[in-house]
Amino acid sequence: MDLKRSILQEINSESFEKRGISLYIKRDDLIDPEISGNKWRKLKYNIALCESKMKDGILTFGGAYSNHLVATAAACKNANLGSVGFVRGDELNAESNATLKRCAELGMELNFIPREEYAMRNDKEYHETLGADYPSLQLVPEGGANYYGMIGCQEMLSEIDIEFDHIFLAQGTTTTSCGIVFGVGANQKVHAVPVLKGFSSMEEMKALFSKTGIDQETISDLLERIVIHPDSHFGGYAKYTPELIEFIRDFYQQHEVKLDPIYTGKAMFELMKQLESSEFDNSKILFIHTGGLQGIPGVEKKMGEKLFQ
Ligand SMILES: Cc1ncc(COP(=O)(O)O)c(C=O)c1O
Repeated sequence: MDLKRSILQEINSESFEKRGISLYIKRDDLIDPEISGNKWRKLKYNIALCESKMKDGILTFGGAYSNHLVATAAACKNANLGSVGFVRGDELNAESNATLKRCAELGMELNFIPREEYAMRNDKEYHETLGADYPSLQLVPEGGANYYGMIGCQEMLSEIDIEFDHIFLAQGTTTTSCGIVFGVGANQKVHAVPVLKGFSSMEEMKALFSKTGIDQETISDLLERIVIHPDSHFGGYAKYTPELIEFIRDFYQQHEVKLDPIYTGKAMFELMKQLESSEFDNSKILFIHTGGLQGIPGVEKKMGEKLFQ
């Protein structure tokens, strides 16, 4: 994986210049077309763990359009490992959409399970059953949401030599934001934009940090570095509006950066809204592009038109 492709791109604007704002995007979307954005960050140490335990591959979970499933299938293939994906929805099959088709092409064994079974994806007893059925596979939670995913995300900060005051990013399972929060200093703020409606960001982050064995006092200190912006979900997970689509198109026209309407478009929309406030004058701001572009053909199919011209 060529991490050098993940450049820091400056977003120039006259108004930012006047206000002393510098805005950069960490282009993790350029790492790889499939193992893109935060995906390699979250998979790197999970793959290493799998190899060190001499496992044959990874078993993981995802929805019908999951970026994580495709990335896992591709990363396992690159590492000569097998992969098994448990997919939400027993009405689906490997031909249902481009994402699932690609997972199958990459050699992932797909198991389509009912929603009630999918709801057990984080339960210990369910994992024990799967462990008995697939003893040679390493189980990785949905979205790569574990300690190994988190430290891989934290590592991204070592590629950045500008001291940013604010870091903005999209939030799903919270793994990426936890990793980033873990790696920043107390003088920096991490701004997370949950893409799910009514998501309990702080509780989820606390739970993920707790699983890693970090003590409660440190967790409280870490959580002080985070600001949650809960109002740019645009109706909830995988929902979007004409306003969001227009924003994504405008942003592409102005800066030639593609955003997706599920994650990064929502986070950038919120960042631009926040920048209307003078609170951010004279500050250095980083936006982490967490990828998601593989899902765009599915979005275009739903929209019935191209997102980018
Ligand atoms: C493109 C993209 N951006 C952001 C996220 C959210 O990251 P996390 O689940 O680590 O909070 C995801 C989901 O993993 C994603 O696919």
